[in-house]
Amino acid sequence: MAKKSYRIAVLPGDGTGPEVVREGVKVLDAASKKFGFTLNFTNFDFGGDRYLKTGEVLPDSASDQLRKFDAIFLGAIGHPDVKPGILEKGILLRLRFELDQYINLRPVKLYPGVETPLRNKGPEHIDYVVVRENTGGIYTGVGGITMKGTPNEVAVQSNVYTRFQVDRCIRYAFECTRRRNKKMTLALCGKTNVLTYVFDLWERAFHEIGAKEYPDIKREYYHVDATCMWMVKNPEWFDVIVTDNMFGDIITDLGAMTQGGMGIAAGGNINPEGVSMFEPIGGSAPKYTGMNVINPLAAICSCMMMLEHLGEARAAAAIEKSVMDVTANKLKSLSAGKMGFSTTEVGDLVAKGI
Ligand code: IPM
Ligand code: MN
Repeated sequence: MAKKSYRIAVLPGDGTGPEVVREGVKVLDAASKKFGFTLNFTNFDFGGDRYLKTGEVLPDSASDQLRKFDAIFLGAIGHPDVKPGILEKGILLRLRFELDQYINLRPVKLYPGVETPLRNKGPEHIDYVVVRENTGGIYTGVGGITMKGTPNEVAVQSNVYTRFQVDRCIRYAFECTRRRNKKMTLALCGKTNVLTYVFDLWERAFHEIGAKEYPDIKREYYHVDATCMWMVKNPEWFDVIVTDNMFGDIITDLGAMTQGGMGIAAGGNINPEGVSMFEPIGGSAPKYTGMNVINPLAAICSCMMMLEHLGEARAAAAIEKSVMDVTANKLKSLSAGKMGFSTTEVGDLVAKGI
């Protein structure tokens, strides 16, 4: 039988992006050798430097080019010399939308040896997944400003959801809960007491789909503010949380801190029917650029999610095991400059452990 092979688009991006991407690729290479598949990488230079040089944020052909790949690996987007919003909206959000990556999958899992700010909580308490809707809501940019600069200025930015968007996100979350096969509990995180239109839609869709198609899965509901409270106080309650784009953005930063911070938190922008994009969820950390001190584990964990998504479950599990060994027995801390190892050395350690 011919070896399985995958085409991976690599977007190292800005700041420390290229440094962590290099380690991710190193680990992917090690995993592919060990588990008998091939990966072909193609680099793209989208990011702040390219924009400053050419004036173009993202070529119009980018999405069509990227659609031809089996997966995308993104480092980080965000450049200190570019006004905030231009690259984030023009590259990251544009790709999520154009490639219809309607799920943002963000595991919150505390690995052994990793320090969490949650007192008396360990790996046995912090292991859940947030399914964030990724192409709708406030992020669609529906709205505008009029009479700008006057006392009568009006600004509107609407939280827009279609039943179609909500249904497909909720179905994905139920499927994810079933696949995990852990607590078999899906929690909807919303704000039905105030956002009585949008979350009424979400809540009805949630219960209708759940009752009809997923009777084996327990359904729970939490307001977003309460969700934040319980993520800190009783994270062990959660299995899978499904929520809208804006709330998902916020609660996954909270979740990331409880699992040890941006050095370890990874995510996948998933289009179950198309091409998906995997990224460390932290930023480009420009002040550490070129110093070989940034933690590459988040990028490495996003590669693990990529392999899982591509169907290479054994390779993904081997990466996770190796990462856990590194967090438990090697690293002093997950913070940049305090790991006791350089960026490259951490990549070497994980790659060797596979
Ligand atoms: C994230 C980021 C992005 C978002 C920004 C950079 C546009 O915070 O991936 O969570 O808000 O989705
Ligand atoms: Mn965010």
